[in-house]
Amino acid sequence: MSILRINGGKALDGVIQVHGSKNSVLPILAASILSQGETVIHNCPDLTDVNAAVKILERLGCKVRKEQNSVWIDSKTMIKCDIPDSLMREMRSSVIFLGAILARTGEAILSLPGGCELGPRPIDMHLSALKALGAEISEQNGNIICRARELKGCRIDLATPSVGATENSMLAASRCRGTTVITNAAREPEIWDLQRYLNKIGARVYGAGSSIITVEGCNFGCSAEHRIIPDRIVSSTYLCCAASAGGRVKVTGVVPRHLQTVTDALSAMGCTVITGDNDIYIRAENKLKAIRPIITRPYPGFPTDAQPPLMAACLKAEGTTVFVENIFQNRYRHVSELIRMGADIRVEGRVAMVTGVKKLCSAPVTSTDLRGGVSLVVAALGAEGVSEISALWHIDRGYERIDKALNSIGAEIIRTD
Ligand code: EPZ
Repeated sequence: MSILRINGGKALDGVIQVHGSKNSVLPILAASILSQGETVIHNCPDLTDVNAAVKILERLGCKVRKEQNSVWIDSKTMIKCDIPDSLMREMRSSVIFLGAILARTGEAILSLPGGCELGPRPIDMHLSALKALGAEISEQNGNIICRARELKGCRIDLATPSVGATENSMLAASRCRGTTVITNAAREPEIWDLQRYLNKIGARVYGAGSSIITVEGCNFGCSAEHRIIPDRIVSSTYLCCAASAGGRVKVTGVVPRHLQTVTDALSAMGCTVITGDNDIYIRAENKLKAIRPIITRPYPGFPTDAQPPLMAACLKAEGTTVFVENIFQNRYRHVSELIRMGADIRVEGRVAMVTGVKKLCSAPVTSTDLRGGVSLVVAALGAEGVSEISALWHIDRGYERIDKALNSIGAEIIRTD
């Protein structure tokens, strides 16, 4: 079992490049089914979730080749429309393939995605959207079976701005007859990136980034080349590492406005944060201070995925910072592990009260989920002594070799496989 041994208490110093966005490349890999041609994706992160999505594309009959941070997909040869349980269990967000498979073949059979570490992960909004477009949906032996002789454009009113439901609606509507209007759509940058790719392969999608997305269904399909946007949560994580350990770090290859709520919070804590066109410089040399409540909201609000790493950066800040987690039911599983390192955190339902302590002490801790796991890395960098972090498969889902990345800016991390 892989373990990270982190010798904390060392200030970070250097320049670190951010890889492409996991939450952008996954829906775009699914969307490549609709190109019915060749897609080349650049700045593709080398992550286990990406590998899982590639396995699904190959299972469907697509030809895929991965070289470093580029992926080549030929979806002309797609012949299947089902994703088996084994592959669905590898990555629950595989539900994002539903809309694309249905739009391409008229049928999609997926094993019911289970919950995950963050709590139940219902897909009711996904299914309501597909039904509104004309799909017949049934459940049999743990599978969701979607069939549609013809999908017809309509109005889809999302109850909440679900990222996945927005993406599935865009994908399913793209080849419908007629126009679809998606209201209360998610506004994340990853939605905009998906729209950019879809329009490159011939779809007609407009409005991504706003709450209303219009999809003019058409029969399209052509080859395209696409560069994935940088990962705003990985960018945020690296900045939180610098805040926790102290030091001076420049994060490059980022879109600063995509993580403005996070950089605003770090500035309010007393870090010096300077943003350039595509880089962010942070200097953390003084004692940090607690800040106003951090309330997670759909984009452009504070991102739920940055809640755990920012919480870890607050553990030694003077005073008490209140966190309110509004997106997921169970996104404080990292708290008990942080407490093992000496953190003072009290959780009441969706609220976590973080009171700064003088110092954190190293401890053996276990990752609980992707962002909860990386919060342990952030905390260990600011703790005295050598912390051991296990269950790294959670972290490897969303961070390319986090040990090598952080060692390049002065961290002392050893990974034992
Ligand atoms: C995406 O998940 C991201 N994953 C998540 O990132 C991110 O935390 C989340 O959006 C919110 O920003 C990917 O893009 C692969 P949602 P998604 O649908 O689409 C509820 C990470 O760490 N809901 O916006 O699943 C749902 O249970 C991951 O990289 C329904 O009730 O998120 C959740 O409480 C974690 N019914 C809330 O809405 C539905 O049909 C937000 O979910 C759909 C969602």
